[in-house]
Amino acid sequence: MAAEVGTPVFVYDEAHLRARCQEARLAWGDGTAYATKAFLCRAMAALAHEEGLCLDVSTGGELHVALAAGVPAERLVLHGNNKSDAELRTALASGVGRVVVDSFDELGRIERLVCTPPPPSRPPTVLIRVTPGVEAHTHEFVRTGQDDSKFGFSLGGGLADEAVARARAMEAKGLLRLAGVHAHIGSQIFLLGSFDAEVEALGGWFAGLGLEELCVGGGLGVPYVDREDAPTITEWAAEVRDACRRVGVPPQTRVTAEPGRSIVATAALTLYTVGTIKAVPGVRTYLSVDGGMSDNPRPVLYGSGYEAFLPGRAGADRPWVATVAGKHCESGDVIVRDAHLPAGTTVGDVLAVPVTGAYGYSMASNYNKVPRPPVVFVAGGRHRVVVRRETYDDLLRLDE
Ligand code: LLP
Repeated sequence: MAAEVGTPVFVYDEAHLRARCQEARLAWGDGTAYATKAFLCRAMAALAHEEGLCLDVSTGGELHVALAAGVPAERLVLHGNNKSDAELRTALASGVGRVVVDSFDELGRIERLVCTPPPPSRPPTVLIRVTPGVEAHTHEFVRTGQDDSKFGFSLGGGLADEAVARARAMEAKGLLRLAGVHAHIGSQIFLLGSFDAEVEALGGWFAGLGLEELCVGGGLGVPYVDREDAPTITEWAAEVRDACRRVGVPPQTRVTAEPGRSIVATAALTLYTVGTIKAVPGVRTYLSVDGGMSDNPRPVLYGSGYEAFLPGRAGADRPWVATVAGKHCESGDVIVRDAHLPAGTTVGDVLAVPVTGAYGYSMASNYNKVPRPPVVFVAGGRHRVVVRRETYDDLLRLDE
């Protein structure tokens, strides 16, 4: 396949994607959303919808792609800490299922838009995003539950109460329907105790509001490297449900989540071709591939770890240690700091980096004018290109 499609390329196992969507739907129930920021194209949007998930979109762009994939607007949940008038107008006009309100400014904006002709066919259904004051054990860049956050209304400072009161007042005027509360404490979280802490912080307060829906966000971690281990989606949901019961969240509450990474991360790997090998005696060996930080910025952004192997010799021992570097003009352009590879790995080999299905393609760039790789879905032993490789002409497309 690499010979036919070329490298680098993102390869997704479609059966794996479907299995994770089905697991999430079963574990959490209706209303559970796939967080499209992790990976989005029309094929992925359609797949998540077919498997019964709603889709969380956090910008007008994600909304546009999901609608273009044919996902009904009522299956979409709109997020964003700074939704523009245009984004909200599109969301209201198309009839998105939920708007997750993040600020007082946004409540004001919704009021103005709903009151401006032509009014939407029905008032938007909203959740209030709350920061529960919980610090998840994860990288500080992807922590969102603490009070010092640009997201949502903090519970501790009373802002969440004020937001609920304002939303209720708007509901009384027919400007919106207040369905519930939303929180998201961060991403790549391995400890289910962090989610317990979230529910413990929110549950009692939520129970007193008499609302129907509580979304606990996404954030379940996945293993990237050898000896890492993460709970399953099923275990995560069971833990949260137990916590909800313990803290008195009414049993009829629709408790949902919006996983991104845990749906798509382990479903994909990236294939590269080894281009140059440079041994620095007594220091390290650099093995450079035909992609890098433009298709996977996670190592350089968060210091994230990955593994590598040769798909041509998948079962081989991997005694040799080398640094897998990209082709960009920066020393930080490293994909795997100390990759274990088979002896005899050589120029021309196809090298695979697994667990690149989340926040790889979605955060890819054209740095150094490197065209973005294609995305391939594999099912039943066949592959199909769902996003084509960018061409050099694509790099000129926007120049005036
Ligand atoms: N819901 C909200 C409101 C979010 O902000 C996020 C992720 C999710 C759900 C999905 O979280 P997940 O299940 O994927 O952890 N670029 C970073 C991750 C950023 C996550 C942003 N928000 C990375 O590559 O690790």
